[in-house]
Amino acid sequence: MKIAFIGGGMMAEAIISAIITKGALSPEAITVSDIDQDRLKILGERYGIGCTPDNCRAIQGKNIVILAVKPQVIRKVATGLRRELRPDQSVISILAGVGIATLKQHLDHDAIIRVMPNTPSQIGEGMSVWTATETVPPGHKSIVCTILAAMGKEIYFDAEKYIDMATAISGSGPAYVFLITEALTDAAVHIGIPRKTASELVLQTFLGSARFAQVSDKHLSELRNMVTSPGGTTAAGLFRLEEGGLRATLTQAVIAAYQKAKELGKE
Ligand SMILES: NC(=O)c1ccc[n+]([C@@H]2O[C@H](COP(=O)([O-])OP(=O)(O)OC[C@H]3O[C@@H](n4cnc5c(N)ncnc54)[C@H](OP(=O)(O)O)[C@@H]3O)[C@@H](O)[C@H]2O)c1
Repeated sequence: MKIAFIGGGMMAEAIISAIITKGALSPEAITVSDIDQDRLKILGERYGIGCTPDNCRAIQGKNIVILAVKPQVIRKVATGLRRELRPDQSVISILAGVGIATLKQHLDHDAIIRVMPNTPSQIGEGMSVWTATETVPPGHKSIVCTILAAMGKEIYFDAEKYIDMATAISGSGPAYVFLITEALTDAAVHIGIPRKTASELVLQTFLGSARFAQVSDKHLSELRNMVTSPGGTTAAGLFRLEEGGLRATLTQAVIAAYQKAKELGKE
């Protein structure tokens, strides 16, 4: 199985690194093309993969082509590739908000896989969601599964609508978590805890709570009740969070991100 990356940016590197580190594919099976020569040099030296500035050359003889450019340049990139793509090649797109119908039209190609990864993929803790058109062969689906599993967890959806929904949760989610983490750290500093210690307290509290929820068979509200003694400190803190509209704000944030993902898909 041979794969080509069109665009060698941050997300492409996260995928390349995971594939090679976990031994899903050898470096010889991977070629990347990018308009930035310096970037190609770095990727070639770092991973021992094939590098070229020519997108059409990169996809020759490859089974799978991964589009990893920014959504703004997809029309231009697709126009350059459409004549070179063979029907037996599958195209994976990781572009946020660009729908399968648009990709099919720009590429004049049927076998399309749409993936929405997230940035923790860079350390093998990613959450990727994906879907594929009917013409993608089972062998290609299985390699996609292997690649995404090397980056963390993966979930396949039959319906594309769930990709835009997941974009607003797992795709944008790391940014929400970083903002909340930062705010809680600042709050800890505000009451007098040194910043370095505050950061450690907050990060480990998030990490430990997420892992605890993942392995526990208890509902989240039960886990929350276990920390909330009557008339205690947690009850006082939770009351202020509810009073500040935390749940409604989070719901509004997710709806806004979902609407934006759908709007981008129509452009
Ligand atoms: N970052 C995230 O959290 C995230 C999560 C999920 C999905 N995504 C998606 O992943 C995609 C890539 O994101 P990224 O953050 O890795 O972007 P990025 O770092 O900007 O990488 C894109 C690379 O493609 C190069 N490029 C631009 N035009 C090209 C062309 N015509 N042919 C070949 N290469 C070209 C860019 O070069 P220049 O820099 O010189 O233009 C850049 O090196 C985006 O579509 C994004 O929606 C990102």
